[in-house]
Amino acid sequence: MLLEVRDLHVEFRTRDGIARAVNGVTYGVDAGETLAVLGESGSGKSVTAQAVMGILDTPPGRITGGEILFQGRDLLKLKEEERRKVRGAEMAMIFQDALSSLNPVVCVGDQLGEMFVVHRGMGKKDARARAVELMDQVRIPGAKERVKDYPHQFSGGMRQRIMIAMAIALEPALIIADEPTTALDVTVQAQVMDLLAELQREYHMGLILITHDLGVVADVADRIAVMYAGRIVESAPVHDLYKAPAHPYTRGLLDSIPRLDQKGQELYAIKGLPPNLMHIPSGCAFHPRCPMARDVCRTDVPPPYEVSEDRASACHFWRECLDG
Ligand SMILES: Nc1ncnc2c1ncn2[C@@H]1O[C@H](COP(=O)(O)OP(=O)(O)O)[C@@H](O)[C@H]1O
Ligand code: SF4
Ligand SMILES: [Mg+2]
Repeated sequence: MLLEVRDLHVEFRTRDGIARAVNGVTYGVDAGETLAVLGESGSGKSVTAQAVMGILDTPPGRITGGEILFQGRDLLKLKEEERRKVRGAEMAMIFQDALSSLNPVVCVGDQLGEMFVVHRGMGKKDARARAVELMDQVRIPGAKERVKDYPHQFSGGMRQRIMIAMAIALEPALIIADEPTTALDVTVQAQVMDLLAELQREYHMGLILITHDLGVVADVADRIAVMYAGRIVESAPVHDLYKAPAHPYTRGLLDSIPRLDQKGQELYAIKGLPPNLMHIPSGCAFHPRCPMARDVCRTDVPPPYEVSEDRASACHFWRECLDG
């Protein structure tokens, strides 16, 4: 495994109490593999990724347990300086909002070039040439002419391509893309997602694709990990999960995707709201919203039951769910 997160716990100490954002997340991704992490807003997807990248807001955030193994090393045991070297060169992150991630007063050529100056000791001229190559590679039309432009002069889709170029510049082994297309309109979303998938194949990178929208990632992901209240509730190869979910929450998410053949029909929505992370419900955290909940769900936390060799579900009644 390229990356293995094991039983990770993260909490935020705030004036109002302790928000338990990540409560024992275990997931992994191999070189050349794409893992989609799916879940509603607030389920702990980004916080887990920030812990992996080493960019968690501490305080108020605090890692209270677990391991993050990257190429065999436990990142949580590294000194900040070693950690910095891993970040950028060996793993990189792409965020939803390119405009606030890019420097508004530095032209994109210099921002891209700086990666090579800082990490590869290149001169300015060579770095600029590499910047143009990268912009070509992420298919920004007229790269040579646009290399001196500033971030705000690009469209949202093109800016996201620049973020992707920054991320792949040093050919990292792992990329984490956190809702990389959420701010874009639908056609552009698909183009950016295709580009990301293509580069991932070309460089044989591990890719973690965070999303709240299964429709966007289904075509490019190998595996899916579904998060709820800071836990992985289901983990499966994408096609198996699509065909028959083994967790009622996953089923709810699938049923709430708009489908062409159901145009005009009212869309299903999972009832209720995501839990308050300062007061996570007892037993199965999903029980207040679950159409299949029974007494045992209120008292016993479901462990990740093995559904098959490469599939797990944290639902006491996964069999029933799987049978539909
Ligand atoms: N900087 C922060 N300060 C306090 N609480 C935070 C902070 N970042 C995240 N949290 C808590 O962690 C929860 C999960 O956040 P996040 O991982 O960003 O969710 P998402 O699944 O939408 O990416 C939030 O709902 C919030 O309670
Ligand atoms: S354990 Fe119970 S409440 Fe939780 S998802 Fe399964 S059936 Fe629903
Ligand atoms: Mg997020």
